[in-house]
Amino acid sequence: MNAQVEKSSIVTSVTLISALALLATVAFFVAALIGIITAIPSDDGSRKQAAVIDRIKPVARIVLTDPNAAPPVAAVLTGPEVYNKVCMACHATGASGAPKVGAKDLWEPRFAQGLDTLVNHAVNGIRAMPAKGGNPALTETNIRDAIVYMLAETGIKTDAAAPAPAAEAAPK
Ligand code: HEC
Repeated sequence: MNAQVEKSSIVTSVTLISALALLATVAFFVAALIGIITAIPSDDGSRKQAAVIDRIKPVARIVLTDPNAAPPVAAVLTGPEVYNKVCMACHATGASGAPKVGAKDLWEPRFAQGLDTLVNHAVNGIRAMPAKGGNPALTETNIRDAIVYMLAETGIKTDAAAPAPAAEAAPK
């Protein structure tokens, strides 16, 4: 009888220890799992965004270029061509107060400012005169050539037929 009581208490102890061990094991794994889960950074959408950018990359490649970089075709236009294409619209008729080509009395006081000033005003715009006559593809040389042509047509001689005064820029 005594031995049986002892045996049953041993069984109880073993069962209890096993249960505790099992509980500890479960607790350990739960803790480990929580550790793993919290170690993974949450996705704020950037991973998805990166994947999207990667997917569209070969299709959409945008290259921004300087809009002031004139297309080569503009550089080969002559003064008369620039005038006929762009400037004539206003300067042939005197529209919106533009000095009309041929009106020497209108051009002479303007030319008195100097050709460089006229070029500067035509490139950057002045009052009702839009910058580059409204065509940003034109180069400063295009504008200068057109002005020289307009002045020549008006009967005002410029010495700009000679190449640009590079000598002026040379160190003294
Ligand atoms: C939309 C009409 C218009 C076009 C196009 C136009 N002009 Fe003019 N331009 C004007 C007007 C208006 C003035 C007078 C501005 C003022 O002095 O109030 C003027 C003035 C000028 C002057 C005199 C500036 C000064 O300092 O007195 C020059 C030079 C000139 N234009 C060059 C050109 C050239 C070169 C082109 C073509 C590339 C051109 N313009 C195209 C309207 C135009």
